[in-house]
Amino acid sequence: MPYLIGIDVGTSGAKTVLFDTKGNVVTKSVIEYPLEQPHPGWSEQEPENWWKATVKSIRKVLQRSKINSAEVKGISLSGQMHGAVFLDKNLRPVRPCILWNDQRTVEQCQTIIEKIGLDKLRELVGNTALSGFTAPKILWLRDCEPEHYARVNKLVLPKDYVRYKLTGVLATEVSDASGTILFDNKQRTWSSEMLQRLDINPDWFPNCYESDSVCGEITKKVALTTGLKVGTPVIAGGADNTCSAIGNGIILEGRVLASIGTSGVIFCHTDTVKVDPKLRVHSFCHSVRYKWYLMGCMLSAGFSFRWFRDQLGVFEKQIAKKRKVDPYEILTEAASLVPVGSNGVIFLPYLMGERSPHGDPNAKSVFFGITAKTTREDLIRAVLEGVTFGMRDSLEIMRELRQPIQQIRVTGGGAQSGLWRQICADIFNTPVVTVNTTEGAALGAAILAGVGAGVYPDIATAVERIVTVTSVTDPILENSKRYNEFYQIFKGLYPALKPAFDQISAIITEKLKH
Ligand code: XUL
Repeated sequence: MPYLIGIDVGTSGAKTVLFDTKGNVVTKSVIEYPLEQPHPGWSEQEPENWWKATVKSIRKVLQRSKINSAEVKGISLSGQMHGAVFLDKNLRPVRPCILWNDQRTVEQCQTIIEKIGLDKLRELVGNTALSGFTAPKILWLRDCEPEHYARVNKLVLPKDYVRYKLTGVLATEVSDASGTILFDNKQRTWSSEMLQRLDINPDWFPNCYESDSVCGEITKKVALTTGLKVGTPVIAGGADNTCSAIGNGIILEGRVLASIGTSGVIFCHTDTVKVDPKLRVHSFCHSVRYKWYLMGCMLSAGFSFRWFRDQLGVFEKQIAKKRKVDPYEILTEAASLVPVGSNGVIFLPYLMGERSPHGDPNAKSVFFGITAKTTREDLIRAVLEGVTFGMRDSLEIMRELRQPIQQIRVTGGGAQSGLWRQICADIFNTPVVTVNTTEGAALGAAILAGVGAGVYPDIATAVERIVTVTSVTDPILENSKRYNEFYQIFKGLYPALKPAFDQISAIITEKLKH
């Protein structure tokens, strides 16, 4: 029987999933790794940890499934976007990877905007310079770690580092390459003009493929350590957001993905390249050939809930331990006892600054509207609502851009909660649906593997065969009306607090210098 493997190199861990060709999960394994924050606003990971976790998870999956590895027809990769893995002449990382949610490159973003100009950026790459993207990270290395910069020979994205280790081949593909903002999205090739204007060595960048192309095979050494068969084709794969879009069937205009993972994403498929004239949402290449997408990305969606669990949820964790359930279950149960609007408490979900729509590394989280009557339960519900308001900000921009929104599919850890799905439907004021998989990104990667290996004729046929809608959550009219009132207040809070965010950031940065 033929099988396919999708590997998602995420922020919290590496996940390997073995699928049959109908998209059913045969076995899966997740191996977590740490995220380092050596300074406020910094976010780094060791590429070697991704690799070790990937090897371990592949081995576990193959051992548990007991299949003959010759039956694995193709492997592909999905990965966290924008991370800069700088490699030396021996193709070893020069320093830890600087991740998508890192905020250190404020000055370098400013330099790029000043050097190139917003109009030219819009024309060349369809995006402005934001601190999570890859290009400003290169300038930061040049400015702040010249000794490391001098040793750089190649630059790859996180999943492409894992590909290199699997196959010995340095390669990337259009969806992740476009997240560098050094890529011509229309032509789907590296932008020589951007590289030239920023004085970045074009030789650093690997060949770029369409996401369903074969671009390597499993080496002998890797076969020995993982149990995979030597020569198994490795297909290009894609950014986690495009893979997740494919795994959720977002391959047509009108279908929108709302993803509540560590980050929160509103992803709109587009048949042609579209760019927000105000550059509030990103414009990148889809992993479907000659298709594109618009995306709003907030940095702390599921991350906000996790932060609450870890910093303030001691009580809920204790109950969860006693009842032998996940602490998130207890937290969600508590939130469900509170009425719509959290008794007037509004949470601003800017724990790591914010990307869409504010593009502001100085933004901070806030619980607004606390009174003597406020309870823990109110705060918990306010977190779920605040994250969803943040996602609505991006949805409103898509509506303003007249992007057709016929169906919103919700995915990610947050979408597994019935309460959070209802909050989404109510705040978006649109029905939200789920599909028959929770393995969006890994499934998307496996579909790309299947197309590259010739198991499926194309992505659309595979999606048609595999992905079906399994639940619909309709908005409750009364709740939507109430949320509209709260959303207006939510929208006003960021601009009102912006000067205070800047002031407090200046004080903290100053203190750190001393
Ligand atoms: C998208 C983005 C995040 C990461 C998360 O631009 O930065 O969604 O891809 O892994």
